[in-house]
Amino acid sequence: MGVRILAVLALGVVLGFAFNTNATAAEKLVNYMVKDGAIAKSLTGKPGDAAKGRKVAIDRKKGNCLACHKMPIPEQSFHGEVGPDLAGVGGRLSAGQIRLRIVDPERLGADSIMPPFYKLAGLHGVLKKFKGKTIISASDVEDLVAYMMTLK
Ligand code: HEC
Repeated sequence: MGVRILAVLALGVVLGFAFNTNATAAEKLVNYMVKDGAIAKSLTGKPGDAAKGRKVAIDRKKGNCLACHKMPIPEQSFHGEVGPDLAGVGGRLSAGQIRLRIVDPERLGADSIMPPFYKLAGLHGVLKKFKGKTIISASDVEDLVAYMMTLK
């Protein structure tokens, strides 16, 4: 009898552990809905912080947006020109369009070279340290969106 109870308990622990790890993996990415080329809702349910977003854009380990875009950030000397100049982007695009652009630009055009910043990295051609991770967090995305919306 005692052995049977122990076995049931052990099974419960193993299953519980398995379910738990699955749940955390699934919870990593916030659910979002893409409609009409945009993600209308904030990923965090809150508005972002534009001043923080400006820092994320500059940060070479996070957004590193300057590698490909010119932006009105005069204190940084190197600005790339692979992508369009982002001055005025908040007047051209809606917050929802900018959000999708940052989260997963591949959903807008098959071969964008802009990386998907909020997508779990695939299994191929990805540095080990990025496997199963997003480049930036959901709140970084919201801070960037808030910052982009100030560029009018
Ligand atoms: C590797 C280069 C690269 C990086 C890094 C990059 N982008 Fe882009 N981005 C592009 C290109 C190229 C386009 C033009 C459309 C396309 O090809 O997808 C673009 C388009 C955009 C657009 C749409 C602009 C418009 O006027 O239509 C926004 C907004 C944008 N990027 C924001 C960002 C932000 C914010 C970051 C940093 C988190 C970033 N990008 C990082 C290459 C890049």
